[in-house]
Amino acid sequence: MGACKVTPSLVFAITIAAIGSFQFGYNTGVINAPEVIIRDFLNYTLSEKLDETPSEGLLTTLWSLSVAIFSVGGMLGSFSIGLFVNHFGRRNSMLMVNLLAIAGGFLMAFCKKAESVEMLILGRLIIGIFCGLCTGFVPMYIGDVSPTTLRGAFGTLHQLAIVVGILVAQIFGLKFILGTEKYWPVLLGFTIIPAILQSVALPFCPESPRFLLFNRKEEEYATEILQRLWGTLDVSQNIQEMKDESVRMSQEKKVTVLELFRSQGYREPLIISIMLQLSQQLSGINAVFYYSTGIFKDAGVQEPIYATIGAGVVNTIFTVVSVFLVERVGRRSLHMIGLGGMAFCSIFMMISLLLKDTYSFMSYICIVAILIYVAFFEIGPGPIPWFIVTELFSQGPRPAAIAVAGCSNWTSNFLVALLFPLAAASLGAYVFIIFALFLIIFLLFTFLKVPETRGRTFEDIRRAFKGSTQEASESGKSPTMELNSLQPAKEPVPST
Ligand SMILES: *[C@@H]1O[C@H](CO)[C@@H](O)[C@H](O)[C@H]1NC(C)=O
Repeated sequence: MGACKVTPSLVFAITIAAIGSFQFGYNTGVINAPEVIIRDFLNYTLSEKLDETPSEGLLTTLWSLSVAIFSVGGMLGSFSIGLFVNHFGRRNSMLMVNLLAIAGGFLMAFCKKAESVEMLILGRLIIGIFCGLCTGFVPMYIGDVSPTTLRGAFGTLHQLAIVVGILVAQIFGLKFILGTEKYWPVLLGFTIIPAILQSVALPFCPESPRFLLFNRKEEEYATEILQRLWGTLDVSQNIQEMKDESVRMSQEKKVTVLELFRSQGYREPLIISIMLQLSQQLSGINAVFYYSTGIFKDAGVQEPIYATIGAGVVNTIFTVVSVFLVERVGRRSLHMIGLGGMAFCSIFMMISLLLKDTYSFMSYICIVAILIYVAFFEIGPGPIPWFIVTELFSQGPRPAAIAVAGCSNWTSNFLVALLFPLAAASLGAYVFIIFALFLIIFLLFTFLKVPETRGRTFEDIRRAFKGSTQEASESGKSPTMELNSLQPAKEPVPST
């Protein structure tokens, strides 16, 4: 490979693309701080409509729906990624979907003026669709324009932009910035500004050379773009590699989602991928990112928003830490460490909430527990499930596997977002024991079933599967797993 330089146009293209990841983070974090104010808005608006004060239960349901509908949108969006990128190209897809961000942003920004709960919920849904699409587009585009040697490093910018988005949303949610009764619609509508910024800048970014070569067969144009982005004329080898890959891909049959579920050989890695996604969401992390201000308030923290911002800062720092860890420590170990640490912290959160009235220092224990919990999340369950899903599947079944993983991720995200406030209302502090239980189950599952994938070939991983399958059937943990392990895999996971 020629000596690649990190040219300004490469940095520009990647930065502009990462605005999409920022948007995802922003809209994940934005709903956290103004909880009380938005509840009041719902209360007020409904009282006007119903001519009576709505019940606490109805308000909680509507509030969690406004939060959780975002994940339904995310799921819809994540299913449509392939449709967009292969049709319009990566860059143009990113450009087009900004219309969704603008539409959703306007709905949320004007829902208060219109006294319309429907507009708030619809806006969150549309923004969710937009974010679901972004989470597919951005890593793909960044991967396509980055030189091979820097692909890993640039790829993590997506993750980083997400956590920065969460953090910015939390800071904007401060009472003296936008977290007020007057300005909360601006807080939610702010998402329009990055959308406009990105729309203006994207036309100056190149289309993905991979898309041009694979889908449009425009080799010359792709070469030209690579030369400009990488600051070297010598890209022929990379073009050749891409062409080879394209040939390999056309040889390896594309596997549909249905085939993925039917085929015995894929079942084991598929179950692992789904379980790992569930472990990410059912760990309760989004209960913290959507609702932490409320949790801290219950714990008796004086200025809960600062604790929430603290969680955002820890989140950002440990995202960077995990970038270094992932290449040095095995994925499986990191995931287990993360899950174990989170389980431990959930129990501490519960204890601190239970004892807060007896000991006032318990509110500090609660803050510390949540901060460490977030740190453990970014070490394991945050990044690892996505690594593993791409490493368990070769080119042919990979897109289908990623779609299934994405769908399980958003579905469980939705369930947590929707059910957490209701569960917290009825169970109180004990709600965290549920997350602790889930975490322990997933820890056991990872220990028994998940192979180490770092630096291994598909063939190697496949062999590891057989080993762990036997172990699991001996210990008889899960009935479905046992059933599978009784029948030897007919189709091995294809190796590259
Ligand atoms: C809703 O508003 C009414 C009157 O403004 C108030 O009495 C009631 O407590 C509020 N309900 C909730 C759940 O905040």
